[in-house]
Amino acid sequence: MALGIDIGGTGIKGALVDVETGELVSERIKLDTPGGGLPEAIAATVVELITALGSAADGVPVGICFPAVVRHGTTMSAANVSDKWIGLEAEAFFEKKLGRDIVFVNDADAAGVAEARYGAAKGRDGLVILTTLGTGIGTALIYNGVLVPNSELGHLEMNGKDAEKQASFAAKEKKNLTWAKWATRLQQYYSIIEVLFSPDLIIVGGGVSKSHEEFLPLLKLQAPIIPALLRNNAGIVGAAALAVQPKVTHLTETIS
Ligand code: BGC
Repeated sequence: MALGIDIGGTGIKGALVDVETGELVSERIKLDTPGGGLPEAIAATVVELITALGSAADGVPVGICFPAVVRHGTTMSAANVSDKWIGLEAEAFFEKKLGRDIVFVNDADAAGVAEARYGAAKGRDGLVILTTLGTGIGTALIYNGVLVPNSELGHLEMNGKDAEKQASFAAKEKKNLTWAKWATRLQQYYSIIEVLFSPDLIIVGGGVSKSHEEFLPLLKLQAPIIPALLRNNAGIVGAAALAVQPKVTHLTETIS
């Protein structure tokens, strides 16, 4: 069992997860993300969430996912969150605040791991690209079940601009686009992904994936494009799964 926490722009969600099956084994707690999204305030909310889970959360491994590039525990970007995260040693910062070891990873990477282990990409070989369509576009590259972290393909250039600003679910909402209009943008986005990466399977996650019948059939791509299965729990489940995985600190040891 492990505790997975998914920090997002509007909510912070967490639950205990059975990492054998990927199922939630406690209630799922959701607290509002404090306005401004500053590190101190977010850490205080995470402490509150863990306290609310009670003694069942004592001593279990903790995985936290976050919407930024995370290199060896340090947050390197801040696309839809406070700039104060850039260059912050987030993993060490949370370890100090929570008084226990944690694993800190990108949110889309966590979702990708969850879908690969327990969801839509379970047992699928080759290159799987998971995309989450939300406030931004998060991506995870999984090759033969192994995650290549921090792919950040939501920031590919499309029409000379950031792709996520045009094709995310937030862009659809902001411009009040019909499903068909939005699908035209998604078609362009996923075509760029196909030219650059030739994936064997594309998975679409994020809250809007529950309405996949409205837009996925409109897309014409070479690879199959299918909805995620874990939906809004993918971040929680993937963060928990990554928390029980041993950290590789010296690649040469694994190679030799
Ligand atoms: C961020 C990614 C994140 C994605 C989804 C993007 O704006 O750059 O790191 O995974 O949003 O939250």
